[in-house]
Amino acid sequence: MKLISDIVQQIQRRIFDTITSGNLVYNTCWEDPRIDRKLLNLDSSSNVLMLTSAGDNALDYLLDDVQHIQCVDINPAQNALLELKKAIFKNGNYTILWDFFGEGRKSGAEIIYHQQLRTLLPKPAQQFWDRNIHNFSPRSTNDSFYFSGTSGKIARTVFNQIQRKELMSAVENLLSAKNLEEQAYYFHEIEPQLWNPFSEWLIRRHATMTMLGVPASQRKMIEQQYEDGLLEFIRQSLQQVFTKLPIGDNYFWRVYLTGHYTPDCCPNYLLEKNFRILRNRIHRIETQTSSLLKALQQSDTTYSHFVLLDHQDWMAFTQPDQLAKQWRQILDHAQSGARILFRSAMPEPNFLPEFVFDNISFHPELTEPLHKKDRVGTYESTHLATVL
Ligand SMILES: C[S@@+](CC[C@H](N)C(=O)[O-])C[C@H]1O[C@@H](n2cnc3c(N)ncnc32)[C@H](O)[C@@H]1O
Repeated sequence: MKLISDIVQQIQRRIFDTITSGNLVYNTCWEDPRIDRKLLNLDSSSNVLMLTSAGDNALDYLLDDVQHIQCVDINPAQNALLELKKAIFKNGNYTILWDFFGEGRKSGAEIIYHQQLRTLLPKPAQQFWDRNIHNFSPRSTNDSFYFSGTSGKIARTVFNQIQRKELMSAVENLLSAKNLEEQAYYFHEIEPQLWNPFSEWLIRRHATMTMLGVPASQRKMIEQQYEDGLLEFIRQSLQQVFTKLPIGDNYFWRVYLTGHYTPDCCPNYLLEKNFRILRNRIHRIETQTSSLLKALQQSDTTYSHFVLLDHQDWMAFTQPDQLAKQWRQILDHAQSGARILFRSAMPEPNFLPEFVFDNISFHPELTEPLHKKDRVGTYESTHLATVL
């Protein structure tokens, strides 16, 4: 029995690695930089090492005038996405930025790409966008860039269900609710319709979670804590986000429910007032396609900040030796007092190697109150550590 479950796990891991190593998985960042900003204390002396994801949060940190941000991602498609955003800033036309990444679509996207953006990209990013730039075209079957990529395809499936059940106006009411009471009212109108045999089947599929970039190890963490597994976890997360926190500026959920942002509900990097500032600083962000471990092994730089997102959950049970090696490298490359930020599907980071706890201190007094205000709302915990 154990052998069979090991084989199934190995197969699931291979499928996950294959899907997440060449396809765009995250078309937008799924971590709240408003919380990060309060924890990181970034300034002009900050030298940041972080995982790229969709690059939005690196652009957000750049607003704090940081010295340098090294964005590392094992998936070249994620770096290609950040490079495209960088190219649009370098090109200098705000409307193109808003149409591509605010509206998620732009007529003539292919022409603009070939005439104005392509030469501003490094070769691997050119190769990626030569094949994928059509995802911004209104003629594309996705309708919006935010419904492309693997997580976007799941969002599209949910969006289709909302349309099929004629819930779009209820969703619009929810998103424009004036207070928590109104939000709760509209949410409870929609919620019963969200749960049906199809949605429950979709959530239970390993393939769905793979497309959303949730590996089996992270799924296991969630299933350990919730009696009814992922379904209960998602139900509780939706309740928290839609009934306990103001929805008006929750751009994370808006974009997946509608396929686009609005000027008053979008990531900071899309605001017109920030365009020139970011354009002037854009050269300070560098992308690197590599595992974090390899990137650190090859680096002779020390960093003041490490932003690890939730990627340690990916390694916690399946690659504990790699996780230990990675932490030795992090500690070797940390400036004194360096801040390390990460999120997890576990309530406590007890999956970290023993020696780590002798070298860092955690600050739950800072993270716990902020975690409750996290607009994404799908993590069990947020952790800030400082290097001793
Ligand atoms: C861990 S995922 C999580 C997504 C995240 N919560 C967000 O904001 O969207 C973030 C990124 O980390 C990358 N990644 C995962 N493990 C990695 C590793 N060991 N080294 C480098 N990048 C990694 C993935 O390719 C992905 O783009």
